[in-house]
Amino acid sequence: MEVIIRPDEGAVAEAALDVIGRLLASKRGPVMGLATGRTPLKLYAAMRASGLDFSAARFFNLDELVGLGPEHPDSFRRFLRANLLDGLGAAEGAARFLDGAAPDLEREAAEYEAAIRAAGGIDLQILGLGRNGHIGFNEPGSSLGSRTRPKALDKETLADYGPDTPRFSVTMGIGTILEARALLMLATGEGKAEAVRRVAEGPLSSETPGSALQLHPRVYLIVDEAAASRLARAEYWRWVWENKWRVGQ
Ligand code: PGA
Repeated sequence: MEVIIRPDEGAVAEAALDVIGRLLASKRGPVMGLATGRTPLKLYAAMRASGLDFSAARFFNLDELVGLGPEHPDSFRRFLRANLLDGLGAAEGAARFLDGAAPDLEREAAEYEAAIRAAGGIDLQILGLGRNGHIGFNEPGSSLGSRTRPKALDKETLADYGPDTPRFSVTMGIGTILEARALLMLATGEGKAEAVRRVAEGPLSSETPGSALQLHPRVYLIVDEAAASRLARAEYWRWVWENKWRVGQ
């Protein structure tokens, strides 16, 4: 795992954009997994403003709330269109979204997994991190081998989202996420500091779904100083960054 500690949210977005720029330079039509949430908003704005060529890229979203059709204002699909895909220069039909209003969610999940395989797998999966350590909607207790499936939100997540949020989601599983060739997790703010510590410094446990990233050979965990504030090994990671040792490869 490469833990990259940057001073603030803007610098986190810049470092993440750098990872994406290198992906685009190495592969013309990469497959990217997209996260919803407040955390990646600055990165998404930076992607749109970057002038990078996303015309051959393809996209899958990480999760969706159940019951929200494609046009629902709170759907993650709508969020990703409004905050990233409209104005990115992506090709028509380049994005495949989980449908939270699908009549058979198990089937929707299985077809989604098949679509990811048919696209050749995900090259780079962007991830946020819940305060409770969740990735996607894989809440604490989720199997580290789980696949895309419907999943109930836990109480802490519901509290973060507000009272009118659906209680169920459909989400890529942890096993699905781990199959992406590279993972780019962003976390900012003091509220994420404990979850970041558990993800980066363990132990590996389904109690902290994000700790599954320790199993993956190519992870960029980019955090601001506030989110890094509980890391015991922060000085080491800073030293790695300053020396650009491995970073950039
Ligand atoms: P946030 O959500 O980016 O809005 O903090 C992250 C998450 O819950 O995965």
